[in-house]
Amino acid sequence: MTTTPEPKTADRKNIHLDLARGPQAQSQISSQFDRIELTHNALPELNFDDVSTACRFLGRRLSMPLIIGAMTGGTDRADAINLTLAKAANAAGVALAVGSQRASIEDGRPQKTIRQLAPDVPVIGNLGGVQLARPDGIDLAKRAVENLEADAIFIHLNPLQEIAQPEGDRDWRGVEAAIAEAVNQLDCPVIVKEVGAGLSASVAGRLKAAGVRMVDVAGIGGTNWTRIETLRREEHADPMTPFLDWGIPTLDAVMAIRDEHPDLQLIASGGIRHGLDAAKAIWLGAELVAAAGHFLRATENDDAQLTPERLASALADWRLQMQMTLFLTGSRDLAAFKRAEGVIDGG
Ligand SMILES: Cc1cc2nc3c(=O)[nH]c(=O)nc-3n(C[C@H](O)[C@H](O)[C@H](O)COP(=O)(O)O)c2cc1C
Repeated sequence: MTTTPEPKTADRKNIHLDLARGPQAQSQISSQFDRIELTHNALPELNFDDVSTACRFLGRRLSMPLIIGAMTGGTDRADAINLTLAKAANAAGVALAVGSQRASIEDGRPQKTIRQLAPDVPVIGNLGGVQLARPDGIDLAKRAVENLEADAIFIHLNPLQEIAQPEGDRDWRGVEAAIAEAVNQLDCPVIVKEVGAGLSASVAGRLKAAGVRMVDVAGIGGTNWTRIETLRREEHADPMTPFLDWGIPTLDAVMAIRDEHPDLQLIASGGIRHGLDAAKAIWLGAELVAAAGHFLRATENDDAQLTPERLASALADWRLQMQMTLFLTGSRDLAAFKRAEGVIDGG
């Protein structure tokens, strides 16, 4: 049984979904993956069909190192999208992250069907850092994990998005301590992410000190929440203009964290456009990539009707592109690919 959430939340989530699919939601600066050139190998000495993009994540096998990024939940439309994503993720053998579970938990919406439709792949829960820092935050996080039978939980940090939102959270004190508490109290890994403005190496270092072992950079270059919130604002949007493309480009965030904290496990996300970008992120040192907007556009057409066949083919294309990248660099698998020849910025 589902209940209807407070109309304002449902309206906001609907508008977010509509805006996020459009070109105006994209950052005007890039995620920077074009700065990497992998060296073409004209003598691969491999059978293309033997080239494997498989890996393991959270104790489960994936056909490629991909997470369908955290997007939505908590309304009927959002739940339908999540169920479509869950089926597709399981069929394609990729991990699935859901969007913030706060509304679903508060409204008593069950999320077990997502797990039932994706029994073989990692399913990752989601809660905001600010919610985690509230007095009932740890309890909320435990319920989020239980509700979904999740393999891990993403805690998202989105200070820019919240300030750009007229109704957003403004008090960001206590989030770091709450993350440390969550690492201690939850029975599953706590992975910290941004939502498209990036994590710096120094923030990654503070998260490491709080006990976090894996971070998702979610840098700038793809879906842009300052742009989405500014489009949604009816008044007082002008002050946001200088911040429309504020953030750390995904490539820069991955390289900085990899260099300063080689012991942190890294997920690269934010403007990963296709399997070639994804492969480049793995070559740089990320264990996995995540992509949200790209798969949202494949899941719904312009009339907001679900398009599961298009989603399945988008996932198949992504794997083909990763497999091609490995083949064309003479790499039989991901371990070999990490040693493939390539240059950044021509040098
Ligand atoms: C419609 C939509 C809703 C999102 N909601 C959430 C959310 O609830 N929690 C979260 O951590 N990230 C959320 N994100 C952010 C994505 O997980 C991701 O970090 C961001 O979109 C950048 O990746 P992309 O360029 O591949 O879209 C959302 C993204 C989209 C497109």
